[in-house]
Amino acid sequence: MQKRITKAVFPVAGMGTRFLPATKASPKEMLPVVDKPLIQYAVEEALEAGITELIFITGRNKRSIEDHFDKAYELETELELRNKQKLLDTVQGILPRSASCIYIRQTEALGLGHAVLCARPVVGREPFAVILADDLIDGAPGAMQQMVDVFAESQSSILGVEHVAPQETGSYGIVQVTPHAQWQQVTSIVEKPKPEEAPSTLAVVGRYILTANIFDKLQHVLPGAGGEIQLTDGIAALLREETVLAHPFHGQRYDCGSKLGYLKATVDYALKHPEVAADFSAWLASQARGTN
Ligand code: G1P
Repeated sequence: MQKRITKAVFPVAGMGTRFLPATKASPKEMLPVVDKPLIQYAVEEALEAGITELIFITGRNKRSIEDHFDKAYELETELELRNKQKLLDTVQGILPRSASCIYIRQTEALGLGHAVLCARPVVGREPFAVILADDLIDGAPGAMQQMVDVFAESQSSILGVEHVAPQETGSYGIVQVTPHAQWQQVTSIVEKPKPEEAPSTLAVVGRYILTANIFDKLQHVLPGAGGEIQLTDGIAALLREETVLAHPFHGQRYDCGSKLGYLKATVDYALKHPEVAADFSAWLASQARGTN
């Protein structure tokens, strides 16, 4: 029987040290790009791909993520009283009624693989998506929709990939691939290799579709790079037993876990935002001419 992807896991327990002090008391996933927090972009990408169960792996200091996707009675009443219908629609439209949110606390920061393993009781035996909100991807259709389309045909695990500069391999899971029918099959994967040890420059970005067999693998993974239980090591074990594909997605990715990537995203999204695009673009042009 053809399986469908209805569940997405959002690991959001990370400390966000690269954005301190901004992330001292609030989650990095709540950093806004123009007017929406990163986690909302990630959730919208999942919803667009037909996913309806949103599983957040949270930790301390992450309450505002739950609040963001919850009903805000006071705010909504206030907006209604003041006749701010457009804002009310914006607030109420964050999540459709068909979607449900499930929150699981990851009590110890043991790594991305461990975070994904925390979702096991909710995911069960179904294939599922993993989305890392730091990797903001502007794509039409969205990267997860593209991967769900590949899954509909392949019924196998899929990793979202893109080429990175050779000196950047130490920041990513890096894969080696070989052609397989109309797709690329992953033959090996290694977490954060030094450039001279990297099998390629094809990096896994924060988009995964995984079969539930990943849980059995993650349960046996020992701490790897950085002393953490790495999702990459679980995938390395998985691909010895079943097909794992790489999907070079179409779209622009912004590494919003880094200040530079976050700034680039902010500028590009502002230049497309209906409310500010024209004025912002004019201001940028005048800055470039040195007239402001
Ligand atoms: C994680 C994964 C890595 C992947 C990256 C994508 O690393 O461990 O394999 O390439 O996300 O953003 P992190 O960025 O959490 O260090």
